[in-house]
This record gives sequence, C-alpha cells and structure tokens, in this order.
Amino acid sequence: MTGTKLISGAEWWRTAVIYQIYPRSFADANGDGMGDLAGISSRLPQLKDLGIDAIWLSPFYTSPQRDAGYDVSDYCDVDPLFGTLDDFEVLQRTAHDLGIRVIVDIVPNHSSSDHGWFQAALAAGPGSEERARYTFRDGKGKVGELPPNNWESVFGGPAWTRTTDPDGTPGQWYLHLFDTSQPDFDWDSEWVREQFRAVLRFWLDRGVDGFRVDVAHGMIKAPGLPDYTPPAEGGSMGGAPATLEPGISAESPVTAPYWAQDGVHEIYRDWHKVLAEYPGDRVLAAEAWVDPLSKMAKWVRPDEMHQAFNFAYLETPWNAAKLKSVIDESIEAFGNVGAPSTWVLSNHDVVRHASRLALTGENLQGHGIGPKTVGLPNTAVGLRRARAASALMLSLPGSSYLYQGEELGLPEAVDLPDYAREDPTWFRTNGERYGRDGCRVPIPWEAASASFGFSTGAQSWLPQPIAWAGLARDQQNGVAGSTLELYKLALSLRREHSLASGTVEWLESLGSDVMAYRNGDVTIVANTGAASVQLPAGDVLLASEDLVGRTLPGDATAWLRAVTA
Ligand code: GLC
Repeated sequence: MTGTKLISGAEWWRTAVIYQIYPRSFADANGDGMGDLAGISSRLPQLKDLGIDAIWLSPFYTSPQRDAGYDVSDYCDVDPLFGTLDDFEVLQRTAHDLGIRVIVDIVPNHSSSDHGWFQAALAAGPGSEERARYTFRDGKGKVGELPPNNWESVFGGPAWTRTTDPDGTPGQWYLHLFDTSQPDFDWDSEWVREQFRAVLRFWLDRGVDGFRVDVAHGMIKAPGLPDYTPPAEGGSMGGAPATLEPGISAESPVTAPYWAQDGVHEIYRDWHKVLAEYPGDRVLAAEAWVDPLSKMAKWVRPDEMHQAFNFAYLETPWNAAKLKSVIDESIEAFGNVGAPSTWVLSNHDVVRHASRLALTGENLQGHGIGPKTVGLPNTAVGLRRARAASALMLSLPGSSYLYQGEELGLPEAVDLPDYAREDPTWFRTNGERYGRDGCRVPIPWEAASASFGFSTGAQSWLPQPIAWAGLARDQQNGVAGSTLELYKLALSLRREHSLASGTVEWLESLGSDVMAYRNGDVTIVANTGAASVQLPAGDVLLASEDLVGRTLPGDATAWLRAVTA
C-alpha cells in the first residue's frame, strides 16, 4: 500500500512538517462549490513542490455537516459531498507516490445525532444498552424539566438537550459539549471502545499513516457530572486564558469536569497498541487544549500518543521574551517524556495568524473576528509578522503544522456576509461570536479563474475576498520574495540543515525585542520589535523581509550560516 518514494526512517513524525487540508476549502473538482477528495488529489503535486512531509485531512466522512464534518454519521465511509472511498484510495496512493504521508481525523468525543447508534439509543429508551453508549441523564426539577447540570456548550448555550419519547412526552436529556447535533459518547461503555478500535483498524487497513484525534482531552467526564462554571476569560476548549503567560495555568480549566480527566489516558494506551499492530510508524496526534504544557505532555508519554498540538505556542503573542519562554517550556515539557515538541500557528478553529498577530484585542481564540471587532488588524503588519513568525517556527526542532493557505499569507476573511456564515458558534450565540468561518474560506490558486481556481465551477461555499486575487498561488509561484517562495525556501533549508532534529542554543540577546539562537550550523534571529537590528556574522540564508545591508528590520526573521570560532 505504501508507495516506494515514501521517506522511510524510524519515527518520521518527530521532524515532519504536516500540512492541514480542510477538504471543504482546498480544491473542488466537481464544480459544486465545495472542495472534494478528487480536488485534493489533483493539487498534491503543488504540495510536493512546497516541500511538506505529510498531510492531515480534516473530516471527510459521512456527515450532515452541522459542524462542517466534525459531526460524523458514519466513521467508515466518505460523504458524497467529498467523493467515495475509491477517491480516498486514489488520494492516498497519489500522496504516497509523491512521498507524502496521510493522516486522517478521528472524532471520538461525539458522533452526529444522525448516526445510527444515536438514533438506536433514542428509540431504545431509558435504561437500555443503546442509551448507555451516549451520555443520557434524567433531568432535574419536579418532572425532569431542568437539565442534569449547568454545563455550557463550547459553541454557546446549554450543553444538554431534552429528548422526546416515542409517545410524544418529554424524555431524558443528552449531553453535547458542542452543537445539539453532536451527542457525547459515554466512554465508560466497553462497546464504544470496541467500535473505535474497529474504526482505527478500518483506516489503518487502508494504509493511513496516522490520526489527528479531535477533542482528545474531552472523552471522559468526572463521576457524577458535577456543576461547573468556567472562568469568564477562560478558553472555551479548556487550556489557559490567552491573557495568561505561557506556563501559568488558570485554576479552573484544570478542574473542569469535562476536560483533561485522567481516564482518557487509558484510552490512548489502548489505541497505541492498536497502531503498533501495523508495520511502519503510525502517529496519533492529540488536539488537547490542556495547560500547562507539562500536563499536556502526559498525552504523549511513550505508551500513549506521539504528538500533541502545541496550543500554548499558537496563543503566544509576537513578543520575543514570551516566545523564548514558551519555546524553552515546550522543549522541556515534551522532552521530559521523550516526545518531540510540535509548533503550530494556524488551523481551522482559530483566527489566521496573518491577522491574529496584528490584533490589538485579547483572548480571541474560538470567538473569531468580523466587521465589528474592535482592534481589527492592519493587513500589512499582519502579513509581515506572519512571515517572520512562520520563518521562526520552521527553524525550530520538532514537528511543525501548517494550515492550508498560510503559505500564501492569507489573512482571516473578516467581511463575510452574515447570510454566508455556517459555524454553529455564530448561530448558538446569536451572532455575538463570529466563529471560525473567516479562516475556512476556500483558498486561491489562480488569480484569473472563477473562484480563483478553487473550483472547476464559479462558486465557493464561502465567498472569497476580492483582494485574494493578489495572493493566489500563481501570483506567488517563482516570484522572489513572495510568501510562497519564503515557505519553500524555509522548508528546503530546514531539511538541508537538519534543523528539525537539532537543538536550541540561545545566543546573547541583541535587544529585548530580539531573540537569537543557534540550531546546528544555522543562526536564527527574530526581531519582534519595530527598530532595526544589526545581524551577527554569517551568510544570510533566508530573510522574511528585505535586508538593508546587514540590518534586520522590525517584525522580521533571518537565518544565517553560523560562523564557527
Ligand atoms: C475540534 C475541531 C473543531 C470542532 C470541534 C468539535 O475542536 O477542531 O473544528 O468543531 O472539535 O468536534
């Protein structure tokens, strides 16, 4: 199944650059305005050209799409919106032949309410085996008219919905940490555990190289489901409020009865064994919003998962001192359990970093930005910082995640019309929170084509900003100094100088806004301030902005060939 050109080597994921594809918005081959698997296959050569090692595909499984596919109604099939299992086979073969590994998403905290398992649970009634697979409870109050506890959904509103019995009378309540259409499983059920082992094997049998595990800190809830009120400033997925320094944990997220419960680790130890049944190195990557990093590192102990997204890094502002401290903390925390650190700046749930790094507001994770947001970013400043931040990230030892379109310098789409929005967050908060549509807009490939080459038709499911014509791939490919060429250069130098398997050796500070470090034979200097700084000795290998002589301007990063004494 595995193509011959695949880079072999033990534990490839330790140093890999993994590119996230959001199938709805990457490329549309059938012209319906929605991306699909055939579209992805057709564009893989461009990713090869970019120089990535693996792709992670957000969900393409059968789904009513009430949370853009994170509401799965069949874990072992492809939604017709995206194609067929045969299309998946073609995609994977094409990727493997190009030397690109394939990681798929798995969503184990909840299914879609359309899933046959949930429908069977509704039909079977209270006390049944089928109900024990999900989190059903009787309501409180005289006649069960009140929810079982006070938990809020991540997307806003209550986390419980009452059911109606077959005879039309109000029945039990079910838990959904996310949308009403996403009922939470009860992982105390051995039946649920067995189903998910089978789902893992289904995709492993088809040759996938690993799984990105959705909400990997959420599957086990505290016994008795006690009431809990999160802090107003806390991240809705857990983790520290963005206003806190990295490493300083907010007390409440640690004690949230639905996040980061110890019982989850047993599940991953079990999954680790399932992956080990297969030859080659397969990877489990955790989406776990857990703080501090020393606690998150528990997810990647040697017998559990292999990687965890470093959200503390993603949430760190463009500030030399804070970046330095989160880098040290990450390398130490993950290193203590023998795991590589990962690095990430953007994904399909957060404001794109070409906008986020120039925002003046705080704690916007998960809330999105839109026309009425206070402190909307300056696009030029955002792009400049994004280029510098990406150049810094790609120099760091460990594995890095890229989100489709960041290699083009795409900003968040801020001006989406209300009618086009689809994120349940927008609806569940009556438009108070913009949600995540702004980072999910289909990406531009060719400036002169309808939908900028995203679709073979004219439409894209979310409208693309007109200004994105200038950012289309064909406007940047081969153009010196473009963001695309900056990424290509960074990825090829990263490989050539083995930066991903190197170390961080801090150099004497060039000023409080500057961080300088050595990784093997390369010196990296990142200037997060406004004033220019003089670069140390060494040939310039890469610079995120034009240099004036040997002067690095503000909001810029340079890589130099280190001079050995
Ligand atoms: C994860 C996904 C997000 C989804 C949520 C519920 O956080 O990344 O997109 O809405 O889980 O599945």
